Amino acid sequence: MSSTKPKILVTGGAGYIGSHTVLALKRAGYEVVILDNLVYGHRDLVEQALQVELVVGDTADRPMLDQLFQTHQFDAVMHFSAYAYVGESVTDPAKYYRNNVVGTLVLLEAMLAASIKKFVFSSTCATYGVPDVVPIPENHPQNPINPYGASKLMVERILSDFDVAYGLKSVRFRYFNAAGADPTGLLGEDHNPETHLIPLILLTALGKRESISIFGTDYATPDGTCIRDYIHVSDLADAHISGLEYLLQGGNSEVFNLGNALGFSVREVIAAAEAVTGLNIPVTECDRRAGDPPSLIGSAEKAREILGWQPKYPGIKEIVQHAWDWHQKRHK
Ligand SMILES: NC(=O)c1ccc[n+]([C@@H]2O[C@H](COP(=O)([O-])OP(=O)(O)OC[C@H]3O[C@@H](n4cnc5c(N)ncnc54)[C@H](O)[C@@H]3O)[C@@H](O)[C@H]2O)c1
Repeated sequence: MSSTKPKILVTGGAGYIGSHTVLALKRAGYEVVILDNLVYGHRDLVEQALQVELVVGDTADRPMLDQLFQTHQFDAVMHFSAYAYVGESVTDPAKYYRNNVVGTLVLLEAMLAASIKKFVFSSTCATYGVPDVVPIPENHPQNPINPYGASKLMVERILSDFDVAYGLKSVRFRYFNAAGADPTGLLGEDHNPETHLIPLILLTALGKRESISIFGTDYATPDGTCIRDYIHVSDLADAHISGLEYLLQGGNSEVFNLGNALGFSVREVIAAAEAVTGLNIPVTECDRRAGDPPSLIGSAEKAREILGWQPKYPGIKEIVQHAWDWHQKRHK
């Protein structure tokens, strides 16, 4: 390590999960620089809540990266930046392969040229496709059913090959559904467009949307709606600190699921939101969407065992409460 306080580059640090991780890094005493092109990130949150250096630029800009790596001696890179709209990835796959795969490849090559060989990567449960078993273990076959999932799987493969050939050590985290907000209210989720269930429910509660759509009520689940594994964004951030420390201490490349191994149906999440907000949330029942598996739940045993990671906020009510506190503040 180049200093007593490791210095970390966080790509996508102005976005949802990246910003919460920057906050956790700062609280843990790391020096942090954010690289974000602000296509989806929020400058105001970086300036007000994070107060770290923000470099506005794109991971595909090699000359900028070379300059950045000359200016700063980074000990590791945490790579959150990507496009993550599944539906758009089906209609415009080129955009996803260019940003998520090519943009990552340019970043990795610039890192190697600067002898930075530790990398924490945001992968996704979408790399599994439709699971044969739940909770899904890390060694489950990966058969993504959309270009977004495929783009992440391609990067996972690149990382394996780069370890063998160039000694680049990586932790690949496959997240399930990130949700919630920083419990102290500094940060939260603000995607535009928003496609995630909990913020959509809360925007409905705030009167910003007319109703929340339930896509499919006839799945083979107890209440007929899809079941997902919601993981608090601050727990994700903590896992990233553990994964980073694991690499800084010389750990080998590894892949970890990050979820709660607990599933909640769409109706259960709506009920939790009604309990938290005290409001009645209008629902529109719609047909199933193509490619939505009935149940997606991840086993995170491996992260618990190897990283000692323990989610602090596994309950859906707490997740929704923190998200609600944030949404009320953000959309005043
Ligand atoms: N949100 C989830 O539930 C979830 C689940 C699984 C995986 N992931 C992955 O986690 C990561 C973060 O997700 P998020 O929800 O915080 O998304 P987000 O859109 O809030 O954050 C991504 C950030 O990356 C930036 N960015 C995109 N392309 C860039 C580029 N080429 N150069 C520089 N910056 C760029 C955006 O401006 C944005 O600030 C993504 O890689 C996503 O695929 C998210």
